[in-house]
Amino acid sequence: MAPDTAEKDLIDARAGRDASFFDLYSIDQANDNDLALIFDISRRFRHHKTHKFALNKGCSQVCAFFEASTRTLASFDLAAKNLSMDTNNISSSGSSTKKGESYLDTAETLDSYNIKTLVVRSKEAGVAEFLSRHVNAAVINAGDGWHEHPTQALLDALTMLDHFKTTNLAGKTITIVGDIMHSRVFGSLVRILKKLKADIRVSAPETFLPPFVENFGLKTYYKVDEALAGADVVYALRVQEERGAHGFIPTLREYSKMYGISRKRLDLANKNAILMHPGPVRRDIDVHSALVAVDDQSHILRQVENGMAVRKSLLWLLANRLDGKVKEIKRK
Ligand code: CP
Repeated sequence: MAPDTAEKDLIDARAGRDASFFDLYSIDQANDNDLALIFDISRRFRHHKTHKFALNKGCSQVCAFFEASTRTLASFDLAAKNLSMDTNNISSSGSSTKKGESYLDTAETLDSYNIKTLVVRSKEAGVAEFLSRHVNAAVINAGDGWHEHPTQALLDALTMLDHFKTTNLAGKTITIVGDIMHSRVFGSLVRILKKLKADIRVSAPETFLPPFVENFGLKTYYKVDEALAGADVVYALRVQEERGAHGFIPTLREYSKMYGISRKRLDLANKNAILMHPGPVRRDIDVHSALVAVDDQSHILRQVENGMAVRKSLLWLLANRLDGKVKEIKRK
């Protein structure tokens, strides 16, 4: 069947370009060309957001989520369906890992169904990278422990670049506030912000800052108001109680008072600054309720929308290579 207008737009834009990676477990794998390609294709998918594509017809995907998710799971599943993929989702409680099967045996079993993409979320760091060396499917890290969440960083970067109508973030100050220590979102975000040349500030109680965090080339602030002054993006992170974060602060109420993003605090940032949060938001702890969804400065739902576009882009790029190369499995 001949491609329709929307598909032709995508196909022309891609024009022989492939990602340099076969799996995506760390944002470090994406070079400047990869980022440009992903952002270009994502914007086009966003533009054609109501269109149903046949680009990945005949390909299958499994999302294996061994930890809870709303945004990432729903968007990967809907993105795959939008590209005409067959999809299946498994969770830790509903999978044979509950009976003692290993992640490796689970992944090799799923790979035997000739799936093209395996999207993995795990409580432990390194699971997606490990599995990527054992299966033919493209493995996409949907969050591994405290380590990385690369598709979140891609959607965040796209949100920032589009707001500032720019191709990099040179001269822009991004202030990240919150539970840096336990955050895989931070792990990928800081890497992509470095690639995009942003000035990065972090503000948190000392107990929420990992040792040697300055080695990322950022500035740390214990006083959040100082970190917010003159910021272009205020990026709030959730206090991650499921990782024991409450043991690092006296009380959630005190944390909210000292670091929660209020209207008054957001006003310390630049006039056209935006508020971002990866979700799920702990209202009135990370961000005051009135700022979450409806405030003009809040880009939280725009991040969600961009998440769908970025994931469609990756699924097309990784499930359907144009260069004909196949992934080499390196079990090491
Ligand atoms: N931002 C994010 O990963 O959200 P979910 O946990 O809902 O997927």
